[in-house]
Amino acid sequence: MNNTQIFAHRGSAGTHPENTMDAFEAALLAGADGIELDVQLTQDGIPVIIHDETVNRTTNGEGWVKDFTLNELKKLDAGSWFDPKFTDATIPSLEEVLEWITNTPLLINIELKSGVVRYPSIEKIVLDAISSFKLKDRVIISSFNHYSLVEVNRLDPAVETAILFMEGLYEPWKYAKTVNAKGLHCYLPVAVPELFQGAAKAEMPVRPFPVNEEKHMLSLMKGGSSAIITDWPEKALKVRDSL
Ligand code: G3P
Ligand code: CA
Repeated sequence: MNNTQIFAHRGSAGTHPENTMDAFEAALLAGADGIELDVQLTQDGIPVIIHDETVNRTTNGEGWVKDFTLNELKKLDAGSWFDPKFTDATIPSLEEVLEWITNTPLLINIELKSGVVRYPSIEKIVLDAISSFKLKDRVIISSFNHYSLVEVNRLDPAVETAILFMEGLYEPWKYAKTVNAKGLHCYLPVAVPELFQGAAKAEMPVRPFPVNEEKHMLSLMKGGSSAIITDWPEKALKVRDSL
């Protein structure tokens, strides 16, 4: 049996509105091993699950996430943009998802967002939430902002972190260790054989994203990728079961 783990990217984002409870529940139903989600902070400092720094693309609202309170965000429709049948979907708080996940066997990959907007103390706020739900053993924190990963490690070295990267980093398995990260979450095109060989020698898991085509799923699973991060967990499960 193949043991490549399947993480549902933003939940089952291929079939459901990304980063909503509908998408996470679909991932559980599909049989995914874990979910991936994106965290940002509201104006009142509450961690919420949304990918973009503005609400424009995935809700019926407009503006920066950081300028809304949780109450205000909760009034937005986070499902209709994807399909009118998801009109009741809202932006979940991290707490909502963590509470739900405690009753499931799912792993959880939390991506700390930090693009144009920086969220002071996001690392501590997220770590406190993870601790309060006793989920440390099921969490991987990733970020494109590697300063953020160093901060996570400084605050709690017991929580696993992974670097996110899009480009062909030189020997990322060595670099990752300098920021105390334990895993490599790389953009699919840079998941080349040299990367897998180096990572394997360093005993470092590689979890490429986004892996949405069957041919890529097959080759990564056969090649011994530790995990894949996919919008289509149901498809990935079928591929894995066929091996
Ligand atoms: O964690 C993998 C992936 O989610 C990173 O990119 O832009 O989809 O959040 P993005
Ligand atoms: Ca993400």
